Amino acid sequence: MPVRKRYNCSLLEHNTMSIDAKAKEFISYDTVEELIAILCEIRDKGQRILHIGRGSNLLFTQDFDGAVLHSGIKFIEYVSRSNQEIIVRAGAGVVWDDFCAQMAQKNYYGCENLSYIPGEVGASAVQNIGAYGVEVESIIQEVETIEIATGTRRVFKVEECEYGYRDSIFKNRLQGQYIVTAVVYRLSTAAVVNLEYGQLKELRSQDAVPSAQEIREAVIAIRKSKLPEPSELGNAGSFFKNPVVPVEVFNELAAVYSELPHYVLNDKQVKIPAAWLIDKCGWKGKCHGGAAVYEKQPLIIVNRNKATAADIKELATLIQQSVYDKFRINIYPEVNYI
Ligand code: EPU
Repeated sequence: MPVRKRYNCSLLEHNTMSIDAKAKEFISYDTVEELIAILCEIRDKGQRILHIGRGSNLLFTQDFDGAVLHSGIKFIEYVSRSNQEIIVRAGAGVVWDDFCAQMAQKNYYGCENLSYIPGEVGASAVQNIGAYGVEVESIIQEVETIEIATGTRRVFKVEECEYGYRDSIFKNRLQGQYIVTAVVYRLSTAAVVNLEYGQLKELRSQDAVPSAQEIREAVIAIRKSKLPEPSELGNAGSFFKNPVVPVEVFNELAAVYSELPHYVLNDKQVKIPAAWLIDKCGWKGKCHGGAAVYEKQPLIIVNRNKATAADIKELATLIQQSVYDKFRINIYPEVNYI
């Protein structure tokens, strides 16, 4: 299919928060060559660019006065196989969970814990998506990109991607400078599993190591029980990142709240679940305009009833303020405000 352009286009179908913002132009493409041509044209017009995947981590706070780009580069290619490793290359526009489903079906291990995360392959590498003890950086080998300013190709080795917790060079130091076109993953044909997370521990009691498909099914069941389906209730997954605090701050809090859940990152830093902090501030189920705090997982803000971006932003600020007032801890959005 050739490049598709729409003008004054509603973004309602392109963000899981269901915000009805508009883009001056919305452009979909299917090949790297088409993308390069589009970038050349946009540069000549001096237009702003926003590249989106499924819009599952975005909050449109206003109309976008530029070109919103969306990749339709969809392929899954088996590059090589050696010993117990398989190298798989996927186009940026492949739906992330379609990729996970195919890997699990072939019993290749590595992304089963990341099943059912909304979004696309390109975004997986930008956000360093993570769940149930696994971050996607652990299976990424290379990220193929196009530099926006020049239209040239650049391949980032995983070591160059500066991955951190929900962080990468593409979100941070080189934000807005590169567009991901494909990602090369390294999966395992041997059963390398991570079953440390609470409910997944149950799978460890089985006689045999569970298949990638069994783990995938367990992960999907957990996600369905805790997280709202964006198609039924607008949301962008975790709205805030879990804060990382110095061990001294954690010790002071733990002296007061002995039940304080936490993950020790190293001898200096501890990660505290923002969900617990928000829960303790009494936010579960609370509404602000059309926005609300999800009752089963207070880390998630939902579009309960035709919420505006302002409702969501204000609710987020109120939550941040109350967490700070009670615990003296700052929490920051994981969702990108546009
Ligand atoms: N908690 C409460 N009250 C609640 C829910 C949770 O106090 O109502 C506390 C519990 O102590 C629980 C802890 O929060 O043990 C952590 O909750 P959960 O296991 O649900 O995970 P999370 O830290 O809130 C993170 C990711 C999720 C990911 C899960 C599972 C972030 C920002 N979020 O959430 O990612 O699915 O772990 O690994 O790191 C996403 O990014 O959109 C996302 C959903």
